Amino acid sequence: MTRAIEIVLPGVVEPRGLQVRETTVPAPGEGLASVRVEASGVSFAEQQMRRGKYYDQPPFPFVPGYDLVGTVTAVGPGVPPALVGKRFAALTKTGGWASQVVLPAADLVPVPDGVDPVEAETVVVNGITAWQMLHRVAKVRSGGTILVHGANGGVGSTLLQLARHKDIRVIGTASPRHHDTVRGLGAIPIDYRDTDLPARVREHAPDGVDAVFDHVGGPGVVDSYRLLKRGGTLVSYGSASTRDVAGSSQLPVLKLVARLMWWNCAPTGRGAHFFNIWAGKRRAAAFRAKLAEDLGNVLALLADGTLTAQVAARFPLTEAAAAVELAESGTVAGKVVLVPSPAA
Ligand SMILES: NC(=O)c1ccc[n+]([C@@H]2O[C@H](COP(=O)([O-])OP(=O)(O)OC[C@H]3O[C@@H](n4cnc5c(N)ncnc54)[C@H](OP(=O)(O)O)[C@@H]3O)[C@@H](O)[C@H]2O)c1
Repeated sequence: MTRAIEIVLPGVVEPRGLQVRETTVPAPGEGLASVRVEASGVSFAEQQMRRGKYYDQPPFPFVPGYDLVGTVTAVGPGVPPALVGKRFAALTKTGGWASQVVLPAADLVPVPDGVDPVEAETVVVNGITAWQMLHRVAKVRSGGTILVHGANGGVGSTLLQLARHKDIRVIGTASPRHHDTVRGLGAIPIDYRDTDLPARVREHAPDGVDAVFDHVGGPGVVDSYRLLKRGGTLVSYGSASTRDVAGSSQLPVLKLVARLMWWNCAPTGRGAHFFNIWAGKRRAAAFRAKLAEDLGNVLALLADGTLTAQVAARFPLTEAAAAVELAESGTVAGKVVLVPSPAA
């Protein structure tokens, strides 16, 4: 047994309602590894979960934490002992906001030597999402032009950098306070609250764009689809605009998916897809292999300096409430990261 600290989301609460709890973590069993967490991220998903608005969140209470980076401290039967002392990243969906966790060893992806754990953390869920949407779904070629909504956010800023690395021109929507950041990452910034957003996009892409990456959902997704040129692809991957709308957490996503399927069947020469990082059988070897390959690619780009980690702020794990407040303030660019104290 190892003593640990974890953050509990007890129900629908304000960030200050998050609880810091002491717990014990059992020794790892067959196929499992015990990981000392060095960094875990605050994602948009937790903003939805604390409102009870995430599509398939577990029942309260639970420990949030979509992803983490940490070092293996012990392994169970069937896991190579050589993993002990090595640093890995993992996608957890929940449970990452803890100082020590036990995970399937098959879910661990190696972090290259010399990469700071907090910097590596910024590209786990964000990096896999951005990589898979760009390279596996939209498959945009060099020289193309794309529209990225939320270009200052965790996924958005990573997607923008991956696209620029492939010589893809990026138009990025963000609040004006983030335009310098978006410009600094090589994209053309546009205010997402502009009353005629399509006209602003067409000033830079008169014939439309090759792909739109839309996490906003709601009525604006119609503009996203209409901005595509023939052969273009809409990748919808969230419903941020309905975060504060009362009612079902699932209905907005189901409506969105139905609309995308309808568009995708229409003979317009344009594609429309909903991306979900968990699509596929999570425990299937092929799913894990694809995830490990894509995250490995992104971590390698971070290690060689092609990607710059967008760390908005670092908070001790026990200050998760303040971290969530900051993440929700709309003032940050990049990812807010929780760092457990080494002794916890
Ligand atoms: N489908 C999947 O598998 C998958 C995986 C990962 C993430 N996601 C989704 O990706 C999105 C981004 O996640 P993240 O962790 O990168 O979030 P994040 O770092 O908090 O960034 C959110 C971004 O969205 C912008 N935004 C917030 N509300 C908006 C609205 N109503 N209209 C337009 N823009 C809005 C924010 O702009 P300001 O800063 O100006 O407010 C910010 O740029 C979320 O919707 C999340 O659910 C989906």
